[in-house]
Amino acid sequence: MKRKTAYVCSECGASALQWFGACPSCGAAGTLSETVTERGSSASKGKIPTVALAELQPRELERIPSGMAELDRALGGGLVPGQVALLGGDPGIGKSTLLLQALSSISRAGLYVTGEESAEQVAMRARRLALDPGGMRLLAETQLERVLGALEGARPGVAVIDSIQTLWSEALQSAPGSVAQVRECAAQLTRHAKRAGTALLLIGHVTKEGAIAGPRVLEHIVDTVLYFEGDPHSSFRLVRAVKNRFGAVNELGVFAMTESGLKGVSNPSRLFLSSHEKPVPGSCVLATLEGTRPLLVEIQALVDAAHSPNPRRLSVGLEQNRLAMLLAVLHRHAGIATWEQDVFVNAVGGVRIAEPAADLAVCLAVVSSFSDKPISPRVAVFGEIGLAGEVRPAQRGQDRLREIAKLGFEKVVIPKSNLPKGKIVGLEIVAVERIDRAVQLLRDL
Ligand code: TYD
Ligand code: MG
Repeated sequence: MKRKTAYVCSECGASALQWFGACPSCGAAGTLSETVTERGSSASKGKIPTVALAELQPRELERIPSGMAELDRALGGGLVPGQVALLGGDPGIGKSTLLLQALSSISRAGLYVTGEESAEQVAMRARRLALDPGGMRLLAETQLERVLGALEGARPGVAVIDSIQTLWSEALQSAPGSVAQVRECAAQLTRHAKRAGTALLLIGHVTKEGAIAGPRVLEHIVDTVLYFEGDPHSSFRLVRAVKNRFGAVNELGVFAMTESGLKGVSNPSRLFLSSHEKPVPGSCVLATLEGTRPLLVEIQALVDAAHSPNPRRLSVGLEQNRLAMLLAVLHRHAGIATWEQDVFVNAVGGVRIAEPAADLAVCLAVVSSFSDKPISPRVAVFGEIGLAGEVRPAQRGQDRLREIAKLGFEKVVIPKSNLPKGKIVGLEIVAVERIDRAVQLLRDL
């Protein structure tokens, strides 16, 4: 049966029978996209029963471990039957490699649907990675209805779709990769996953162009959204959960890309600390939190005389606006004037840090570079800085302190409110209330 489609405006919701460059109803340009309109009769007849919340007995979720501890960590303990997870990331970052490895280590029957590479190419990669094929099956197909047929036939416990942008449904005229196709294919696959109890992993490329639909348009359809990120010039890769109906978000899995595929890194703190032979100015170790996991990251700053009337403020892996704010606080409350200086800051190892608890490390790295005074590499810090110059507490200070102590640091500078009740063996704890005090301390660090 051929289903009817219409072109719906994403601004005003009006629908048209053909495509227009501008919506005939509201006049917005480029907002019409194709959508399937008819899906049988869904009008409800008669009375529909509802359930009392108090009578429902929630069951423990059955988890399917992926066999890769770091991926399981990001997923919140493994996949759940019927779960649909999206793995987004730049082309070439290692999405196919990761999920092929995961599928081969899952104990349940797996199906790998490849629309990007031929079955031979996938088999070659599996051989090169020395994966155990077990009961894994392959399908090289891009047509959605045929993929659904194969899923129905094989009934795998877990299936990988590589990638959602290559699939197309015969119900729509738009090209594969268009918003309409990507959305329709994901919706149909999700319906199948829920019905059959198959856990689905969808691969989606993140694209800068709006023309090809990126994973963003799928985020509300799927249960879990994972992003695979990392600096293409380093071998470290991070899997981050940004949405998860079956677990906590912002959990992080850390991998290293090696000759023989992706290897989990169970002690990632070492990755984000660079090793200097001698202490260098402009470097400060931050104890940050990624999800529930404490992580030590080196923050670097370079403060240099500006050669233009507009000094530059640039940050890599940290928020740019926050840097401007911190420089203002440093001037106003600690007397460090950088308006004739270019200021660059960088989080080592390609990690991205969004939490305000990085403030103190950024400020100390900036002051260290500005005054050419190195901070000992055995010192770690954390703490948020307010506009009034106060050092504010960070979440889960105890966890951060434990990680710092575990890695053999000797001294920490932390917000006063994060001061632990007991002593920590081998760790000297300096608590500060204001940024000027922290800057003064720099002389003895
Ligand atoms: P791939 O999984 O194909 O990326 P994606 O599916 O996200 O586009 O991986 C691409 C890169 O990974 C490729 O440039 C080569 C590198 N790689 C390794 O370094 N080691 C390996 O064992 C494999 C399989 C790939
Ligand atoms: Mg790929």
